[in-house]
This record gives sequence, structure tokens and C-alpha cells, in this order.
Amino acid sequence: MKVLVVGGSGFLGRELVRQSAAAGHDVAASFLSRPPDTDGADWMLLDVRRSTDVVAVVDAVRPDVVINAAYRQPDWEITADGAAHVALATAAIGARLVHVSSDAVFSGAAIHYDETCVPDPITPYGAAKAAAETAIRAVCPQAVLARTSLIIGDGGSAHETFIHALAAGRREGVLFTDEVRCPVHVTDLAAALLELGGSDRRGVHHVAGADAVSRYELGVLVARRDGVDAAALPAGRRPDAGPPRPLDVRLDCTATRRVLRARLRGAREFLARRQAAGWTAS
Ligand SMILES: NC(=O)c1ccc[n+]([C@@H]2O[C@H](COP(=O)([O-])OP(=O)(O)OC[C@H]3O[C@@H](n4cnc5c(N)ncnc54)[C@H](OP(=O)(O)O)[C@@H]3O)[C@@H](O)[C@H]2O)c1
Repeated sequence: MKVLVVGGSGFLGRELVRQSAAAGHDVAASFLSRPPDTDGADWMLLDVRRSTDVVAVVDAVRPDVVINAAYRQPDWEITADGAAHVALATAAIGARLVHVSSDAVFSGAAIHYDETCVPDPITPYGAAKAAAETAIRAVCPQAVLARTSLIIGDGGSAHETFIHALAAGRREGVLFTDEVRCPVHVTDLAAALLELGGSDRRGVHHVAGADAVSRYELGVLVARRDGVDAAALPAGRRPDAGPPRPLDVRLDCTATRRVLRARLRGAREFLARRQAAGWTAS
């Protein structure tokens, strides 16, 4: 299978490239500001805001599957318009598209959201992700829209970096006890996305972890795994700080789990304490 990972230099993108190459796929991947340090792919510079450039790259690569993991959270032109450009270019060559979307498309009013739920975003980021979904559905009806939640790794995600910085007093802020999500491990997510790319699935799929945890519980789990003093983590309630954000958003992945071989572990499982012998879960 020939795979094009748009946003291949990102946290999820790098894992998609790694797993695609390890599976023996022919891999091309794009970056914008971070030149790649990962072998296993033909790398190319691409700005998804430039629709003609997107068409040129997709035409040159002629992939079987495009996985789009490119975004910038506050940037509509990248997150919404850019996603539409990728969908148009992919549809034009008849390739499959797996677009990475987010639980941010939901307000949290209903708490539990399955694949049939209609987006009701309350943040600019959530609105851009929801707009991208609508555009993709219109121009590329065979596409997979894969909504996910906080993406965690074995130390490399922005969330883990922030938790460490808070614990060390290098960053100000708190971890919310009332903001709940279903974090997913980046290796599980990438495996699920590649599986969806190689299947004949279409439409919305929820691809998140099995456990609903607060940002604070997530921080404690990361701190314990990494041998950091969890008591140093400041806790707080969301309504006390900043503009409104969804409080409790739990992606119900039941329907997607039924069709996937890839396992989507919960945060309490994949962040279980390191054992002396290595990474064996406790
Ligand atoms: N991180 C989370 O917790 C989370 C939660 C839910 C959903 N998601 C979704 O998961 C996906 C990947 O997230 P991530 O954490 O891996 O993001 P990330 O690490 O910030 O990577 C974003 C990628 O997008 C690329 N990019 C940014 N602007 C671009 C542009 N104008 N044109 C082309 N590429 C551009 C970046 O390239 P450079 O780095 O080279 O500039 C990078 O490769 C996104 O769709 C996001 O909405 C993430």
C-alpha cells in the first residue's frame, strides 16, 4: 500500500510514518516547519493552505491512502480550509482518505458521544474541526473521519511535557479535575488509523482510549509512571479559569471497536507504573 501522511512531522504523524514503514508500506510524508528526523519515508514540504501545492503533492505521490494529521489548533485556514484542500486532491485521484478529527467537535453537554452524534462545538478549534468534517463529507464521501481524544505517548506528547513542566514548577497552571477526556496512546491510534486506511470503512469512527479520566488524573498517572512527585501537581476546576471549553467529553467507541483489530487501551492501562524490569504494566 502506498501511504501519504500529511502532517507526518507531528506527534501522531511520526508514529504513522514509523508504523507504515515497519509494515512494509511505501510511505511519503509531509512537513511544514519541522524538517523530519525519521527515516522510512519520502519527505516533502507542504503547506495545506495552498490548494495547488496539495494537488501537486498528491498527484506526484499517487497514494492509495492519504492520512491527514495536519492542523494548528487556533488556525482556521489550516485546520478547516487545509483539510478541505486535502480532501479535494485525494478525491481527484480516487484515493482513500483518513482524516484525523477531534472530540473538540462536541460541547460536552451530552457527556457521552457515539458516532451518530452531530457536532455542537463551542470553541474556535472545535468549530474548525467540525467544518473540516462537513467539507470532507461533501467532497470525499468515502473518507473515514476518525475522531480521537488526547494523544499520549511514552513521554513525547505535548500533554506529558506540560505535566512534567507543571510538576517541576517550570510552567504555571493547573490540571483540571472536572475536564474529562478519553486519552489514547499514540501507537494504538496510529495502528487503528492505518487499519481503517486499509479497509473499506467510510464515515465517522470514534478512535479514543477506553478510560474516561480528568486532566488531573491523567497528570497523576503520567507522574507515577515517570517517577515524578504527583503531589507537586496543582489541581483546579475549569470554570475558574479562561474562556469556556468543553468540560466532560467521552467518545463512545463501541461501534468502531467492533470493526477494528487494533486495541484502544485506556489511560489507566497504558500509563500503569513502570516496573523495575522495564515497562511491564502493573
Ligand atoms: N494532540 C492531541 O491531543 C489531539 C487530540 C485530538 C485530536 N487531535 C488531532 O490529531 C491530529 C494530529 O495531532 P498532533 O498532536 O500529532 O499534532 P502536531 O504534533 O501539532 O502536528 C501537527 C502537524 O501538522 C503540520 N502542519 C501544521 N500546519 C500545517 C500547514 N499549514 N500545512 C501542512 N502541515 C501543517 C505540522 O507540521 P510541522 O510540525 O512540520 O510544522 C505537523 O506535522 C490533528 O488533526 C489534531 O486535530 C490531536
